[in-house]
Amino acid sequence: MTRPDGPDAAAGGPGLDQREEATRIVAKGLEAVAAARSLDELKALQGELVGKRSSLAGLGRTLGGLEPEARRRLGAELQEARSRLEAAIDSRRSLLELSERAAALESDRLDLTEVLGGSSRGHLHLLTQTRDELEDVFIGMGYRVAEGPEVEDDWHNFEALNLPAAHPARGMWDTLYLDQGESESILLRTHTSPVQIRVMQTQPPPIRIVAPGRVFRRDTPDARHLSTFHQIEGLVIDRGITLGDLAGTIESFTSAYFGPGMHSRLRPSYFPFTEPSGEFEVTCPICAGSGCRTCTGTGWIELGGCGMVHPNVLGAVGLDPEEWSGFAFGFGIDRCAQVRHQVPDMRVFLDNDLRLLTQF
Ligand code: FA5
Repeated sequence: MTRPDGPDAAAGGPGLDQREEATRIVAKGLEAVAAARSLDELKALQGELVGKRSSLAGLGRTLGGLEPEARRRLGAELQEARSRLEAAIDSRRSLLELSERAAALESDRLDLTEVLGGSSRGHLHLLTQTRDELEDVFIGMGYRVAEGPEVEDDWHNFEALNLPAAHPARGMWDTLYLDQGESESILLRTHTSPVQIRVMQTQPPPIRIVAPGRVFRRDTPDARHLSTFHQIEGLVIDRGITLGDLAGTIESFTSAYFGPGMHSRLRPSYFPFTEPSGEFEVTCPICAGSGCRTCTGTGWIELGGCGMVHPNVLGAVGLDPEEWSGFAFGFGIDRCAQVRHQVPDMRVFLDNDLRLLTQF
């Protein structure tokens, strides 16, 4: 208890020691707050400076022993000391929060330009590159690029292509039907051939188009098959087009795309929408035609189907088969990329494995 005749009285009145102590606590406290380096450090400091067990609170507990006037003065000074410390703690907290948040953002930042394996930029997938290159070759041969929908109706995908309902050849394409409209009327196109129909419906001959795009089948994926893959369709309609034009076009394409040493040949086959029909094969790039395991010893690899447009197909779109004739072909873009780059298993095209992607 401070007495009026004690040391306080000599030095300026009761409570003076406590007031000096409070001033000292504030000065040291402000220094410590300014030096706090983290929110955790600041929190601990807050307890020490203005908490229940702080020196300031200890001084507050001496108030009861003072005369009313000295109690009022010391009380006001302790309150002022506490307010100054709390204000300093608050402003230091705001600063620390800002800088800790900035540091957290910096450490969480994703470097979206980073690509594992040393390459710094993304690029087109091999299949997209292949599609672009195929388009370029055909554009160079005077073709235009056409497109059609991936969701097709039965008429364009089958019926107009001389494949009426229940035609046994429909089984050549394992179809994925959509649950829309009449049963089995809307489907995911099984080939790019319906684009032939759409082009002939909207454009008078002469026609010379290629139509690249995605197609879908209930095929079980294996080294040479996918259930979602890509084809490129070709269609030429004019007066006096012959099988010789088809064979010459395939041969020109083969050497333009695969290189001068590569050749093509046609093998008889069957498609309901072409007559005669063929499958075209190109020189096996692995054995250069001498025969190996990949080409089952034949020296040739099948790329697609082709033939002269069937008169019924011309009739379905209102073209007179006596006046107009033409050829069509369709082959796999994935198969093309596989043959050209000697990729043993086509399924890797869908894996997004950087070890493959960075090679092309
Ligand atoms: C057709 O799809 C015919 N529309 C092609 C055609 C067009 C013939 C115009 C005549 C005139 P096919 O089902 O054979 O035919 O497929 C053609 C090519 O697509 C195949 O030679 C192959 O290169 C590729 N292909 C077929 N199925 C798959 C598959 N599941 N995965 C990857 N490529 C495939």
